[in-house]
Amino acid sequence: MNFTKEIAKRRTFGIISHPDAGKTTLTEKLLLFGGAIQEAGAVKSNKIKKAATSDFMEIERQRGISVATSVLAFLYKGKKINILDTPGHKDFAEDTFRTLTAVDSVIVVIDVAKGVEEQTEKLVEVCRMRNIPIIVFINKMDREGKDAFDLLDEIEQKLGLTVTPLSFPIGMGYDFKGIYNLYEKNINLFKGDSKKSFKDTIAFDDVQSPGLEKIIGEKSARALRENLELVHGVYPAFDKTRYLEGSQHPVFFGSALNNFGVRELLDCFIDIAPPPRSKKAEERLVEAREKEMTGFVFKIHANMDPKHRDRLAFVKIVSGVFERNKPYLHVRHDKKLKFSSPNAFFAEKKEIVDVSFPGDIVGLHDTGNFKIGDTLTEGEVLHYKGIPSFSPEHFRYINNADPMKAKQLYKGIDQLMDEGVAQLFTLNLNGRKVIGTVGALQYEVIQYRLEHEYGAKCTYENFPAYKACWVKPEDPDNDEFEEFQRVKQKFLATDKSGQLVFLADSQFSLQMTQQKYPSVKLFFTSEFD
Ligand code: G4P
Repeated sequence: MNFTKEIAKRRTFGIISHPDAGKTTLTEKLLLFGGAIQEAGAVKSNKIKKAATSDFMEIERQRGISVATSVLAFLYKGKKINILDTPGHKDFAEDTFRTLTAVDSVIVVIDVAKGVEEQTEKLVEVCRMRNIPIIVFINKMDREGKDAFDLLDEIEQKLGLTVTPLSFPIGMGYDFKGIYNLYEKNINLFKGDSKKSFKDTIAFDDVQSPGLEKIIGEKSARALRENLELVHGVYPAFDKTRYLEGSQHPVFFGSALNNFGVRELLDCFIDIAPPPRSKKAEERLVEAREKEMTGFVFKIHANMDPKHRDRLAFVKIVSGVFERNKPYLHVRHDKKLKFSSPNAFFAEKKEIVDVSFPGDIVGLHDTGNFKIGDTLTEGEVLHYKGIPSFSPEHFRYINNADPMKAKQLYKGIDQLMDEGVAQLFTLNLNGRKVIGTVGALQYEVIQYRLEHEYGAKCTYENFPAYKACWVKPEDPDNDEFEEFQRVKQKFLATDKSGQLVFLADSQFSLQMTQQKYPSVKLFFTSEFD
């Protein structure tokens, strides 16, 4: 086992998109290339159908399946690829934000007809803030859509990316002939043979050569030459260093459904995408090649078996080698833990492994020790940064509907919050509990899970908050902070980690508060410097 080689082999990434742009289809085609699955349709079952926005039974069913697809790993041309699944449903956006803390790069899928959509904007913003290298895949080229240059403009403007096309379409929709691959310098002809993988790649270095007409016809040859001239004139040449810094973003065109342009994307990806990157902890920057194992929990999946209430904590290995049965320090609890059956993921299966390397994800069985953001080390006290809570969009009081089951209710709430299902705020004035969520759907999930996993019943009551803001006074002893606490008493709460939170009831009151108490800083996320 060569530690450095193992690190260099790994590519851990996420695919993000607005629902319906083709993320699932692309994931599936990538797995087919890796030989990890045999037929199309295998990943589909993971999807929470958009129509079923309040169908929590369906979500329960799918949660079982989705643990298998949380990490999809396969080998391709000597590289170990780990795809981390990100839920497309907007009510689960926070899960996706957290998963993005564990990826080393991302592929963004955009629908050629719809262009940049809302969910993509939010997710890409998070990636940009963290300088995560991004490749863009413009999908559904077999359909009529926006003009390629207009779309590239839109991506630059709405997503704030600096694009450089590495492939360019020849026609579109009905008239789609294929793509010219600027990275490999070849033409890939589209035969429109839907649902079949198709290989028709012709090496073609010089588009000025007259041979081009023979392949794609006169009209398309002229258009392609003009377009490529424009591409060279307008966009910067591909620069791998800038891509890796997150300041330049290669774009590919294709059709996932037709398995077209996917091989090109994957080949370029394994060539340029980063192996496991270093990660900032509160204390210092940790490099993947460091010998001592460190890792952090970015996801907890509960209720694998309702009878045992067991949970699987997903840990991203940042440095060193993770070994089975070796004691590791759980930093938050200051306690050593050993794991006798760590799971690794391969295709859609999980299996017990003896060792895992940086970039890998291990699933650790947990009986309630972990919460999202926890760090494991060989003894060093480290806290990985970058897993903040975001201000929820919805707020409701949670009430106990069965007084005999208060203990179960609080235990259930506590564990669900550790999993990151929602956020709990305790009002300072009267100790009442408020649940904040990103989407309305989570309330049903919580109610259902409290009942089925903990035997507790709850009801909700509206709580009129607009945003949760984490409070940091410039000077905790000054009069302004004292007055703020007195006047806003009704709106102050404490989050699960004990931080002070201001629950503003409207945008107006938030602005007024900021103006009136300028030294009391308000933040929309729980992590700030
Ligand atoms: P998502 O995970 O991003 O939500 O999208 P998904 O892959 O499920 O794709 C959404 C729809 O778009 C699917 O159709 C899928 O077949 C279609 N699609 C994906 N890639 C392409 C493409 O390259 N060309 C065309 N024309 N369509 C594409 P659906 O009807 O919603 O689902 P299904 O019945 O096919 O499963």
